[in-house]
Amino acid sequence: MRVTSSFVVISLLALLLLFPLVEMKRAGKGRGLKGARRKLARDRVRGAGRHGRSDSSRPGNCSESLESGRVFADCQGCRLTSIPRPQTWSRAPKYLLLARNRIKVLRDEAFAGYESLTSLDLQQNHISLVEEGAFEGLTRLTTLLLQHNRLTSLSEEALIPMPNLRYLRLYDNPLNCHCDMDSLVQTLQVPSNRNLGNHARCAEPLRLKGKKLKRIDPELLCKKSDPNEKPQGDQTDPKDPAEPSPFQNKPDAITSCHTYYFPHVRVDCSHRGLTEVPAGIPEDAVQIDLSHNSIRHLKAKSFQGAKSLKTLNLSHNNMERIDTASLFGLLHLRELDLSENSLHFIQYGVLEDLYFLSKLKLGGNPWVCDYSIHYMMYWLRLHPVVRPSGLMCRSPPEYTGESVEEYVRAYNRGCPKDRQQSPRDQT
Ligand SMILES: *[C@@H]1O[C@H](CO)[C@@H](O)[C@H](O)[C@H]1NC(C)=O
Ligand SMILES: *[C@@H]1O[C@H](CO)[C@@H](O)[C@H](O)[C@H]1NC(C)=O
Repeated sequence: MRVTSSFVVISLLALLLLFPLVEMKRAGKGRGLKGARRKLARDRVRGAGRHGRSDSSRPGNCSESLESGRVFADCQGCRLTSIPRPQTWSRAPKYLLLARNRIKVLRDEAFAGYESLTSLDLQQNHISLVEEGAFEGLTRLTTLLLQHNRLTSLSEEALIPMPNLRYLRLYDNPLNCHCDMDSLVQTLQVPSNRNLGNHARCAEPLRLKGKKLKRIDPELLCKKSDPNEKPQGDQTDPKDPAEPSPFQNKPDAITSCHTYYFPHVRVDCSHRGLTEVPAGIPEDAVQIDLSHNSIRHLKAKSFQGAKSLKTLNLSHNNMERIDTASLFGLLHLRELDLSENSLHFIQYGVLEDLYFLSKLKLGGNPWVCDYSIHYMMYWLRLHPVVRPSGLMCRSPPEYTGESVEEYVRAYNRGCPKDRQQSPRDQT
């Protein structure tokens, strides 16, 4: 009797332990059985006890804010080397913004006390190691940003505690696509995980360099590189063509710029040496900063698809020409900064889509006060809400330093200076 009852208990226990494994497998997330088993083991060892890591990190000038009912904990650019303690915040944050700090390692349970997080931004740190239990407890996390770090590897098991993860950014990490990465690669390739690990590429080994994790054949990861086969094999193998550098043609916004997602999508492409507007600006980008680049010519459909854009900064470029259709589609643009460029006039039609524009910065351009400037003045008169700034004539000499408005007013009075007799003789 006694024997049978303990047998029943043991069987029940075994069932209870197996059940989550079966569930996890059925969920088809591609997260390996091996990982689930190890997680269970870990949980059992750990029991209920939580050892909060009490890093004595100073939160520097971090700030806490509330935007449309969401609590943001903002420590961007605060020179932090570790995760601020959760007690730092008066309320449990949903968004923890740690971009542009100096964090190097994410230890097990690094986010204990942050269980209510839905978004975690760790981009542009110095992270080279993520321990398997680093994200333990982040069951509500949907967005994890790890781009622009120093990761050579990431264990798929690190993702297991986050069943709700929808967005994972890993690009611009020097990933070494070795055999240990195969379960991560498989997970990223599960169709339902279509926003996990997009754009991430292998940096090593040489034969996989530049390949996307999303596309790579997981079998190749564990293939021993055969020294006899390799030397020129790479170039001649039709199945594995040496991929030319993918960024040679048009620059791509995701890889050439920094994208911040909270509280709204903002793309920072300033100071990148760009000679043209990068492709692939995220559709939900609200702000893009392209200042301090070398763009000379704004081409048609440059911002195609970026239909949520409200602020566009093109200041401090060398723009001489703006094609008529280059700003088409920017129906919601509020602020346009064209200052410090080499513009002489705005071509007819350029501004036609900008129904909601209210701020237009035009200073620091060599505006030419002749007939070519009339389109802009005409458009401004039809859009009295728009407050332009810096619209001064640089030439011809008789108008240098005068406002364009004044020039046009004089023109309309029928007595523009260039119709008076030879003003050029006087100078
Ligand atoms: C913290 O201070 C630095 C430099 O003073 C600044 O660049 C950064 O934006 C600040 N961060 C926050 C979250 O206020
Ligand atoms: C555009 O960028 C310049 C240079 O960084 C900055 O001074 C200016 O305020 C920005 N304009 C807008 C509208 O944010």
